[in-house]
Amino acid sequence: MALLLRAATQRLCLWRGYCTRGTQSALSEDFVAALKAVVGPPYVSTAAAVREQHGQDESVHRCQPPDAVVWPQNVDQVSRLTVLCYSQGVPIIPFGTGSGLEGGVCAVQGGVCINLTHMDRIVELNPEDFSVVVEPGVTRKALNTYLRDSGLWFPVDPGADASLCGMAATAASGTNAVRYGTMRDNVLNLQVVLPNGQLLHTAGPGRHFRKSAAGYNLTGLFVGSEGTLGLITAATLRLHPVPEVTVAATCTFPSIQAAVDSTVHILQAAVPVARIEFLDDVMMDACNRYSKLSCSVAPTLFLEFHGSEQTVAEQLQRAEEITQQNGGAHFSWAKEAEDRSRLWTARHNAWYAALALRPGAKGYSTDVCVPISRLPEILVQTKEDLKASGLTGAIVGHVGDGNFHCILLVDPEDPQELHRVKAFAQKLGRRALALHGTCTGEHGIGMGKRQLLQEEVGTVGVETMRQLKATLDPRGLMNPGKVL
Ligand SMILES: Cc1cc2nc3c(=O)[nH]c(=O)nc-3n(C[C@H](O)[C@H](O)[C@H](O)COP(=O)(O)OP(=O)(O)OC[C@H]3O[C@@H](n4cnc5c(N)ncnc54)[C@H](O)[C@@H]3O)c2cc1C
Ligand SMILES: *[C@@H]1O[C@H](CO)[C@@H](O)[C@H](O)[C@H]1NC(C)=O
Ligand SMILES: *[C@@H]1O[C@H](CO)[C@@H](O)[C@H](O)[C@H]1NC(C)=O
Repeated sequence: MALLLRAATQRLCLWRGYCTRGTQSALSEDFVAALKAVVGPPYVSTAAAVREQHGQDESVHRCQPPDAVVWPQNVDQVSRLTVLCYSQGVPIIPFGTGSGLEGGVCAVQGGVCINLTHMDRIVELNPEDFSVVVEPGVTRKALNTYLRDSGLWFPVDPGADASLCGMAATAASGTNAVRYGTMRDNVLNLQVVLPNGQLLHTAGPGRHFRKSAAGYNLTGLFVGSEGTLGLITAATLRLHPVPEVTVAATCTFPSIQAAVDSTVHILQAAVPVARIEFLDDVMMDACNRYSKLSCSVAPTLFLEFHGSEQTVAEQLQRAEEITQQNGGAHFSWAKEAEDRSRLWTARHNAWYAALALRPGAKGYSTDVCVPISRLPEILVQTKEDLKASGLTGAIVGHVGDGNFHCILLVDPEDPQELHRVKAFAQKLGRRALALHGTCTGEHGIGMGKRQLLQEEVGTVGVETMRQLKATLDPRGLMNPGKVL
């Protein structure tokens, strides 16, 4: 007996004309009962408000609620849920903390959203091997709190307190990537529930080695797969020793060009900066207001140096010289944890500071990444385009990686403005591609960048991705409508 009368229900809805998607679940009662049989009745919801909450992330993408939300308690339940949904042709959407910026959790074809928050154990810490195993409900801040007295930390830090498995799923990075790498460099192994319910350990069960030449890199395949190939139910992450000394610094510049040239020169001089972030004048103004700072409203670099007393002093000196040669002024630095934290909290709140420039507006973030030598020209050009466009936008970037965001403010109810913002973002994406860069350094493809992905990797590239997807997910039910 078919548990799901999905198509029939939908037709019935249209015929009756009152239950459009979004207000009422399109799942049959039998199917919902089967979900409840797997996880227990309290852990299934078809309430409209709950589905709405799970149908959107922090992006401008319109909310598209799933038909049901389930909260599995363990990997066995995830596997049984997957088998159940798959056998009935129901889409499956993994949900971390919903901080994504590309509409990754929008249920474009309805289906079952799997909120993984309850699986929040830190399974195993191997301090001597610098590794840890976490379940998908563990966020980056929770992990670092847990590690506090161990002398170790996990450096990848998207602004939001995202789930670590969600970060693996989106190949996230953040301000420390210039020194410590992105999720791509810091995921050693993943436990994945495949669409057929099987459990895959991408590097073999329990393994956490530094290097290997054993076959294809399946871990790499799932990092950045955005929930389209399977559900990540545990991640083995690489940890790093806490630096002995940390010093933060800021420096303002007469022009964007001068700030970015300094970045390039600092990297060329092999100063091992831990963080080097660019904020334009609009962003600085927004941060001043939002985070109650009193920084100059000018193109600015935020830097951080990690090491011993002596090496940090050397790095600081070298960086200051380079910024001065490029016309930088007010190179100031802070060693106290409190001052550093104020600065980086302001940086991490940049997204909300930008949103506060126009209350009620939503943010649309571009995410291009280019070879470092091309960074000055694309940033200068983008700023000019931004001025000419009449749109409101602030620029902030992980410039040490050649990656920056233009946070554009938009009224999602204004189709014209939304169109102009999307056109601006697409043009910027194409410019990055023309400079041998990528349309997304860290946020992912999600719903909005699928066209740009095609242009980026070409027909053979996309076809190869499609074949991989079809092998693992032949019915196309894992987070449909994303990436490809
Ligand atoms: C203020 C702010 C600042 C940000 N700054 C950065 C930044 O500096 N760098 C950066 O990289 N990102 C940044 N982001 C974006 C976001 O935090 C990252 O994309 C993050 O990795 C998303 O994690 P999440 O747990 O919230 O995932 P969600 O938003 O819940 O999901 C994102 C995608 O991953 C999939 N997914 C989630 N969990 C799993 C899982 N366990 N298994 C399989 N698929 C899964 C989802 O289906 C979806 O497609 C920022 C966001 C905000 C709001
Ligand atoms: C996911 O579930 C957790 C735990 O119940 C809850 O705190 C969180 O708000 C849920 N996510 C959303 C988007 O509602
Ligand atoms: C495989 O890919 C992951 C994720 O990108 C990476 O961390 C790991 O080092 C790679 N493993 C090997 C053996 O190259």
